[in-house]
Amino acid sequence: MRLFVTGGAGFIGSEFIRQSIAAGDSVINFDKLTYAGNLENLASVQADPGYSLVVGDICNSAEVAEAMPEGIDAIVHFAAESHVDRSILSAEEFVRTNVLGTQVMLDVARHRKAAKFLHISTDEVGGDMEPEEWFTEESPLEPSSPYAASKTAAEHFVRAATRTFGLDTTVTRTSNNYGPFQFPEKLLPLAISNALEDRPIPVYGDGQQIRDWVHVADNCKALRLVLAKGKSGETYHIGGGNPMTNLDVLHMLLRIVGKPESLLTTVKDRLGHDRRYAVHFGKISRELGWSPETTFEAGLTATINWYRDNAEWVERCKSGDYRKYYETMYSGR
Ligand code: NAD
Ligand code: DAU
Repeated sequence: MRLFVTGGAGFIGSEFIRQSIAAGDSVINFDKLTYAGNLENLASVQADPGYSLVVGDICNSAEVAEAMPEGIDAIVHFAAESHVDRSILSAEEFVRTNVLGTQVMLDVARHRKAAKFLHISTDEVGGDMEPEEWFTEESPLEPSSPYAASKTAAEHFVRAATRTFGLDTTVTRTSNNYGPFQFPEKLLPLAISNALEDRPIPVYGDGQQIRDWVHVADNCKALRLVLAKGKSGETYHIGGGNPMTNLDVLHMLLRIVGKPESLLTTVKDRLGHDRRYAVHFGKISRELGWSPETTFEAGLTATINWYRDNAEWVERCKSGDYRKYYETMYSGR
């Protein structure tokens, strides 16, 4: 397949590109390289003849149209502002990138006659679930944070493009991903790197919030399956089957790393903090035959080992030096 991937220098997009190149697909990675875009994540594929990078903004239709060849097999749209806490500090960039950017992508997809459009959404569009409640593809959308609200709006534009213009779209909603190359602002990479350095780990509020963790490699396998076999106009939920409280996750992490629980430090709770996510992924299992392969404890252990072995990658994220990679590796291209 010839794929046009947005946001491929981020955490999930880079795993998706690594898997796609390994499978023999060709990929154009269109990425603005915001703070979350790290080309080191793609070092293993950057010399592959099937891979190319275009630095550009999804909100700029001329840039997107110029980068996208006519009749591409599929657009896989990851690019977004993805961190809830940042959206609480300021929502403007979230509306611009996640909503306007998605609409621009849909317009260009149509004009450039892209065969398929896979939109990457999140289980956060459903908002809080009650204790025994599951978030299915039919559940109402009740986002809580500005981030989730922007992702919900984006989904509506995707559906509108299918209904109005007949664009072949699919939507996936994934739970919390974890694994290598995740920017150390999110809970797991932050907690792992702090634990390895004997630094305090911030626990928001009472730590009893429930998240469902799926390994990024499992998620990307599901995305590739949806691309190959998903039905136009359908939404598919992807989860790990590992719902846990944040405190239980952090206790497991500290046990694996061999560090004391005294590192856990209660801090002020996140505003509007969702208590429980519980994505139901029966549909993708039933219809496409996908289920997660990685158990949480095994995946967390491997992830901790990766962060331990790649301490310099984390350090460059923290210092900002990862941004020099583009100038060094791509100058003169
Ligand atoms: P990320 O923050 O790691 O990466 C985002 C990427 O998008 C970066 O490479 C960034 O440079 C790029 N980008 C941002 N604005 C852009 C713009 N205007 N034009 C072009 N590129 C731009 O994100 P992630 O964690 O890999 O998430 C990817 C997608 O998956 C997002 O849509 C997110 O909402 C969704 N998602 C993430 C998770 C998760 O746990 N991380 C779970 C469910 C859904
Ligand atoms: O559910 C899918 C979503 O998962 C994605 O759509 C988002 O892009 C992704 O960022 C993630 O959102 P969360 O808010 O769930 O992830 P985060 O890693 O920020 O936080 C996970 C939980 O841990 C949440 O309950 C807040 C809490 N937390 C987070 C941080 C960064 C802490 O207790 N301490 C922290 O330092």
